[in-house]
Amino acid sequence: LSQQQTAKLVLLGEMGSGKSSLVLRYVKGQFFDYQASTVGAAFLTKTIPELSVKFEIWDTAGQERYHSLAPMYYRGAAAAIIVYDITSTDSFNRAKAWVRELQRQGSPNMIMALAGNKADLESARAVTVEEATAYATENGLFFMETSAKTAANVNELFSEIARKLPKA
Ligand code: GTP
Ligand code: MG
Repeated sequence: LSQQQTAKLVLLGEMGSGKSSLVLRYVKGQFFDYQASTVGAAFLTKTIPELSVKFEIWDTAGQERYHSLAPMYYRGAAAAIIVYDITSTDSFNRAKAWVRELQRQGSPNMIMALAGNKADLESARAVTVEEATAYATENGLFFMETSAKTAANVNELFSEIARKLPKA
């Protein structure tokens, strides 16, 4: 009987990139076309019994006025998901800025995942898979395109993080 491990996980990324939608899809299996913008941060938990991992998830607010709060949420985190919207170059640039901040100020062993969300909006794509993959490889992140709307790759994203956690 293996010991259950608790892991703090934080989501960061531009306002509207779909952080709350990814968490809601993952934890509750829900999606809303009109998802309210997060105020401060939201806290949810989810256990993966097969992997003996309990995630304590901090879904942060992307609005710039909350930026100064972010260190409270990523400090001590075992993992971070940096989210951008594949239809927005600005959101990809914002994701890169978050990666730089975490590389400078985050825990040295933090697992970092880059999620290109809204993959269902292929016809409006602005960030190619190739450029995101190249960026992720250069920076030692693992990368997946996801859709909170269709649920594509959402469970896979969180499970992959759970598998990468150092064994308790
Ligand atoms: P903040 O809390 O303001 O930082 O935003 P957020 O990153 O939490 O984004 P949120 O989850 O609120 O989603 C913003 C909008 O994008 C909402 O209208 C969602 O319905 C929509 N959305 C989120 N994920 C997807 C997706 O995968 N596909 C599509 N088509 N829309 C999405
Ligand atoms: Mg939100």
